[in-house]
Order: sequence, then C-alpha cells, then structure tokens
Amino acid sequence: MSATRPRIAILISGRGSNMRALVEACRAGDINADIACVLSNKAGAPGLDYAAAHDIPTLTISHSDYPSREAFDAAMNQALDAYRPDWLLLAGFMRILTPVFIDHFAGRIFNIHPSLLPLYPGLNTHQRALEAGDTRAGASVHLVTAELDSGPVILQGVVDVCEGDDAENLAARVLGAEHLIYPQVVKWLTQGELSIDGQRCLFRGSDIIKPGRWYNGRLTEPETH
Ligand code: GAR
Repeated sequence: MSATRPRIAILISGRGSNMRALVEACRAGDINADIACVLSNKAGAPGLDYAAAHDIPTLTISHSDYPSREAFDAAMNQALDAYRPDWLLLAGFMRILTPVFIDHFAGRIFNIHPSLLPLYPGLNTHQRALEAGDTRAGASVHLVTAELDSGPVILQGVVDVCEGDDAENLAARVLGAEHLIYPQVVKWLTQGELSIDGQRCLFRGSDIIKPGRWYNGRLTEPETH
C-alpha cells in the first residue's frame, strides 16, 4: 500500500449505487482513501455520470471491442495501472474476469455479490433464494480469487425475506444492506484491521473463519482463530 492515502479503483457496469455508497463514505471521512478512478465496461453506464459529477476520473473500456476475455482484461490492467490503485472494488461489475486480471492485481480485488455466499454464486440470486424458500437473504463482500464468487467472505449483510416478496423488492432490501457492508470492509482495510495474505483474509492478524454480519442494524465482526 502507498505511504499516502490508499487509492481505490471502482469497476461498474451500470447503476453504480454501491460505487456511490463508497464515494460518499470517502467524502464523509468514514473511509480514509481516495477514489482514483471509476471504470465501466459499458459506455453510458449511469454510474459514470455520478462519478464524473463528483470529479472522479472515469474510463470506459468496452468488452465488446476486444476479441477475447483475456484481451479485455489486459486492456483493463494497462488502463488501471496508470491510476496506481491499491485496491480494486467490483461494484456491480458484470464481467467474468480471467487470470490475466486476477493475477495482475492478486489479493487486491474485492467484490460484492447479492447472496449469502456460498449460496447462489452467479446470476438471479434473489429469485433462487425465493424459490428455495429461504427465510433470510443478503449480500457478501469477498476477496476475488480465480473461481467465480468463491473467494473468502469477509462480511455479509443479512435481511429477512418477507411474505409476498418478489425478486425485485427483495433485491431492493438487500441493496440497502450492500450499501452498509461494502464501505465497512473498505474502512477495515484502510484502518489495517483487515489484511490479505495470498488468498487468506486476516482480521486483526488472524484468519477469518466466519464472516462478519450486518443484521437488524447490528454489526458483528468476523470471527477468527
Ligand atoms: C448489486 O446488487 C451487486 O451486488 C450486484 O449487482 C448490483 C449492482 O448494483 N452484483 C452482482 O450481481 C455481481 N455478480 P449497483 O450498480 O447499484 O451497485
């Protein structure tokens, strides 16, 4: 990490409400870091307008301009290196990443996924939770490793599934939790409470054995041994 304030790159594909929560937490001083840039793989992603309006450098690298996932990832590596990010935060970034990207930024990429991992990696998470009859749903912040949505989980936001929920209103309730847990994880990183060693996530220097949890307005820290 740099001796100065850590630098964060945020990757989005659309709305960017998680990006916005992260930017707001930085601006409010809750997170002691600078947003170095916001990158989208889609031109016209609404989140880019918010970033630009807040004087954050934005860049668009359209995956459709590249012949392969690897070529797209290599282009992102080159573009992002120019901003010297300490951490890369995937915030609704809807592309599968290859080792070209993951190895280049190993141990520095985090993702937010809208399920209580290891349940429901991939897409349509809320519909799958409803169909399974789950009584709770949520989102997870995890370290990104080679396998999709499978890196160690650091913190989860948990919400109750309510009678009559459909995927849309469940997603909206989970999104509220997402906006709490992603800034909290980044805050832990900036405070040195959370550190990464290879593929291990350490909380206060010890391996996380159970993710932290944000439920009913109460934050429970990760359990370690
Ligand atoms: C969020 O719910 C995020 O968890 C999800 O996309 C949404 C983006 O919303 N991410 C994934 O599904 C990644 N597989 P946002 O653009 O408003 O932050």
